[in-house]
Order: sequence, then structure tokens, then C-alpha cells
Amino acid sequence: MNNFYHATRILEGNGTLKEVGNEAKLLGATKVMVVTDDFLSKTPVFSTLTKSLEDAGLSYMVYTNVKPNPRSEDCDAATVVAREENVDLIVAFGGGSAMDQAKAVAALLTNGKTCRDWDNVPLDHPMLPTICIPTTSGTGSEVTFVSVITDTERQFKMSIFDPQKLIPALAICDAEVTLGLPKSLTAACGIDALTHAIEAYTSKVAQPITDSLALTAISLISQNILKAYEDGSNLEARQNMMIGSTIAGIAFINSNVGAVHAISETIGGWFDTPHGVGNSIFLPYVMEFNVSANVKKFADVAVALGVEVTPEMTKEDIAAAGVKKVAELNKQLNIPALKDLSYITPEHFDAIAERSAKNMLSDDNARDITKEDYLDILNKAYTAGRVISYV
Ligand SMILES: [Fe+2]
Repeated sequence: MNNFYHATRILEGNGTLKEVGNEAKLLGATKVMVVTDDFLSKTPVFSTLTKSLEDAGLSYMVYTNVKPNPRSEDCDAATVVAREENVDLIVAFGGGSAMDQAKAVAALLTNGKTCRDWDNVPLDHPMLPTICIPTTSGTGSEVTFVSVITDTERQFKMSIFDPQKLIPALAICDAEVTLGLPKSLTAACGIDALTHAIEAYTSKVAQPITDSLALTAISLISQNILKAYEDGSNLEARQNMMIGSTIAGIAFINSNVGAVHAISETIGGWFDTPHGVGNSIFLPYVMEFNVSANVKKFADVAVALGVEVTPEMTKEDIAAAGVKKVAELNKQLNIPALKDLSYITPEHFDAIAERSAKNMLSDDNARDITKEDYLDILNKAYTAGRVISYV
């Protein structure tokens, strides 16, 4: 039986950031907590956000203790502040870290206890009304009903997940806020979004609705990521990346992500590796491992990626060309190689493989995957260096 959830309203378009005040008011806000990071809180575009809240007559506070790979104790601390300030609506402004932390805080405000208490436990009550404003075109967190948080004690990524109670009320997808995104983030976050779409499409639990969304996202992202990377002021490319990333979010949250995310979560929780970087490094290697499990679907992925298909090509050839295309994309985007992450060495591989195999995301990966398979993928990524095996 397929189950498809989507309840977040999406306001998409250039300049829509300035609607946040009116929208917050319509949602019944009187006191808003804006969750963002220190850097973003000092940008000109952030003034557009706060001015909109002021123009709507809303009082607000700005909370900036957001780190990459948000931590459970920071979510608990932010919740205490929000309670003291009588906050009744949360606005998340940032990438996946700000949005996931904001969603966790919104859940804790209505459900009590601490972040760790809700690891894979259904919520008792709907989260506090939350508006998500993505600034990276990557995570899709603005439309997902999961919050992925680092449990620093266990060096582990935990998830608060509830398809009916952890739903952002509104996503404001305004590509203009991404115009200043640095090249490295444009690349890594964009490949994160591409990974969402590819893993959603090829997952064991994919369904027809997620398939159509995932293929659309793969096309949009692959046609625009280099344009956005090479010219960050290309608003059309930025808008297509924003839409593609949001569509990929709706797809994967109703299907699943797989082994790429299992490794990325493992090294993110353990070494603090940025999520997008972890995904980018392993995407081609996991795709290569997965192809045999569903050649037709990986051929579809290749076509959506823009691979030129000639009459003599078999489905296997087309699928392999898709893997090569992703590896080429990584190279063009200057994605680091595994060896470039000098804090990860072969002596860590056994434990990374073991933790990745135990991650629930492995269950729905396109192909059954074991600890030994993860070890092969890690060794291949390490010895091949900068995707040399493909390009
Ligand atoms: Fe992701």
C-alpha cells in the first residue's frame, strides 16, 4: 500500500520572502522566534525578513545558536528560550541545520521532554506553527516531516519523524535569498538535493507519485546546478534549483533515501562532515553499486540527467553513463574526494561501514547492502581519489 503525505503550503517565487510577516500573522502569531545562524543574521536579505515581521506589527526575537549538523542539546536550549519568551510561531531561515533545529524546537514546545526522548517516537501533539525559508536549495527540509539532529553523546544522527504532526505550516521558496550562496555550498547542497531525488526514485519503497516528482527534480537540478555554480547571480538557475530541491524533498520524504545518506549520516554524526559533502562524495560509488538491482530505473535516472542515448546502447550502458555523468558533475563542481577529508582514514572504515549498515536508511536502499558492501564502497572511494575511476 502506498501512502503519500503532503500538507505544507508552498509559497514560491522571487521576492516572496517579504510576505513572511503577513503569513505569520495569518497563522495567528503574536511573538515569533526566528531561528537562523549568526552569519545569515547579519546579511542584507535577513533585514528583509525582519522588516516584514515589523511591518506586520509582530514582535520577534532572533535565535542564532545554530551549528552545522544541529545538536540535540542546542535544540533543548533553544526550546527553553522560546518558552521563556512566550513564542507562538517559529520562522526558520537557513539551510537544513536551521530548519531541522527549528522543527525540533517547534515539536518540543508542544510535546515537552527533551530532543532525545523523541528519537523515532511519534509525537503526541502537532508542532508549533512553523514557517521554513530555505536559503541553500539542498535539504528540502521545508517540506519534510523529519528533523535530523546529532546526538552528541552517542555521536549519532537521531530523527524526530511524524508525517502528521511535524509538518511546516508554510514553506517560502524565494530563490533571491540564495543569490549570495557561496560556490562550495551551491555545489554540495545541490548534490544533496540530487541525491534525494535519485535515492527516492530508486528506493525499494518508491511509489508512482514519488517517481514522477523525483524524475522532475533530477532534470531540474542537473540542468541548472552548473549554471548556478558558475554564475551565482543567475536567478533563473537559482529558481530552478530551489524548485528542484523542494520537489526532491517531497519525493524522498514519501519514498526514502538510502545508502548514500546512511554513510553521510554516519560521518556527519561522528566527524561533523557537512551533509552535502558526505553525500556528494559517495553518490557515484553507491549508484554504481546499486545499478544491478534496478537497471531500468537507473537508466531512467541517466536520461533525466541528460545522458545522450544512442540506438545501440543497452539499458546497462545507459545506466552506467548516468553514474559517469554524476561523477563528472562532482568533478566540475570541485567536490572534494574522500582522501581530502584528512580526518577520515582507512582505520575508521570498519566502524563507518558497520554503523552505516545498521542505519535504518540501508533497509530501503535500491539494493540489499551489507557491512562488507559498505567497506568496498569506502575503499573504492578512497583509492580512486577524485572520481578518477569514472572520468
Ligand atoms: Fe540529504
